[in-house]
Amino acid sequence: MPELQLIRPGHASALLDFERQNRAYFAASVPDRGEEFFAEFDARLEQLLEWQAAGTDYLHVLVTEGGEVVGRVNLTEVADGSAELGYRIARKAAGQGLATAAVREVRGLAAAQYGLTGLRAKATLDNPASHKVLERNGFVVGGELMLTGRPALSYICQLC
Ligand SMILES: CC(C)(COP(=O)(O)OP(=O)(O)OC[C@H]1O[C@@H](n2cnc3c(N)ncnc32)[C@H](O)[C@@H]1OP(=O)(O)O)[C@@H](O)C(=O)NCCC(=O)NCCS
Repeated sequence: MPELQLIRPGHASALLDFERQNRAYFAASVPDRGEEFFAEFDARLEQLLEWQAAGTDYLHVLVTEGGEVVGRVNLTEVADGSAELGYRIARKAAGQGLATAAVREVRGLAAAQYGLTGLRAKATLDNPASHKVLERNGFVVGGELMLTGRPALSYICQLC
């Protein structure tokens, strides 16, 4: 199992490789990052690290023994004891239970280390793998919405 780590400047190159190599794969399920994301990657990472230091985001990567990033699990918009969960796993590492396990670990960190009492998430109806990950981790459907033009469900998870 790759190790879950909070992002730090040393992850920059592996993180960019991960996003580049999986760009088309991710874009089939979630909105594409756009050219700007790649062109301004370093500045954006710096901004993310600042948000993380300020406690508004907790951004995790899954790192293999060889230093390759094969996944991300992010907690963003941290406020009032709650945060928004997002995740993505490299195509070549999919279907091995990584997202399920990594979300479980981040859920544990959210309660024990980040002082959160609830998490929120959203997944479009055409993303059954994502719904499975959430439901296996104790998320329950909170409502229906449209996400970038696609029908979706919102989820909530009480941590204590
Ligand atoms: C969604 C995603 C994170 C799942 O990652 P993963 O590591 O493959 O997930 P897991 O292996 O932990 O579990 C996925 C489950 O969904 C199942 N699954 C995968 N594709 C499926 C499909 N088309 N229909 C039904 N189930 C599916 C898998 O078989 C697995 O269940 P199983 O363990 O019973 O076999 C990954 O596909 C991904 O990064 N997708 C692109 C980005 C994205 O969609 N992020 C989430 C936005 S809400």
